[in-house]
Amino acid sequence: MNENGNISPIGMFDSGVGGISVLREAVRQLPHERFIFFGDTKNAPYGTKTKEEVLSLSRRIVEMLLGKGCKAIVIACNTATSAAAATLRAEYADLPIIGMEPALKPASLLHQDGIVLSLATPGTIAGEKYAHLYALYGEGVVSMPCKGLMEFAERGELDSEALHDYLKDLFLPYQGKKVEAVVLGCTHYVFLKKAIQRFFPETPLIDGNAGTVRQLARRLAEKGTLAPDAAEGGAELLSSGGEAAVRRMKNLLKTE
Ligand code: DGL
Repeated sequence: MNENGNISPIGMFDSGVGGISVLREAVRQLPHERFIFFGDTKNAPYGTKTKEEVLSLSRRIVEMLLGKGCKAIVIACNTATSAAAATLRAEYADLPIIGMEPALKPASLLHQDGIVLSLATPGTIAGEKYAHLYALYGEGVVSMPCKGLMEFAERGELDSEALHDYLKDLFLPYQGKKVEAVVLGCTHYVFLKKAIQRFFPETPLIDGNAGTVRQLARRLAEKGTLAPDAAEGGAELLSSGGEAAVRRMKNLLKTE
């Protein structure tokens, strides 16, 4: 609780609209919490920037969110988690900082003798965090850096012909193969589920959103900072991309 008697908010950010898929899940699981979400649309994509650039952008956003009294931070972006989470946790030792990771672990439970397609940004796939995950759960996994894919979600183009063409080229080598799971290792891709599912109608598409929000709830409970049931929750949306980007985020927050 802050000095005005209000429940302190939870800060959440992404390079753009993708993290809204995490916020949507967070609002479902934690309806009494207040969230402040920042989408850094002006600087998107993060997935083709250097680790240093993403760290510096992430650090500035965390400072801004802490200035608004946030009690915890959710990095609703796999790329920024990979580039910045460890450093930010060292810099803010008392602050719960929850990140994302491509869901290779749950996907590994579905792996038998086929393949698992792991879709993420070039930055995520090149990072140490991913290499570590891959060493543990990478059996049967084909890692696919998807330069240019997040932009479809960012533009609000969730089912266009151009998206279909992009995916067709991407998945061409795997049509007719036994694909046991598709990992959506970028929060933007969650909004492209319908278009991706068309190529693999029977295959589970797995993201890390629910697990991340469960982890957030655990960390708040440990700290004793969960909002009480009487508190009124809500979400405030901010963007470096102006009004139009905020409108796109609002619309995506309402989608199922
Ligand atoms: N939504 C982000 C992720 O989860 C990154 C997209 C990007 O900025 O490249 O990785």
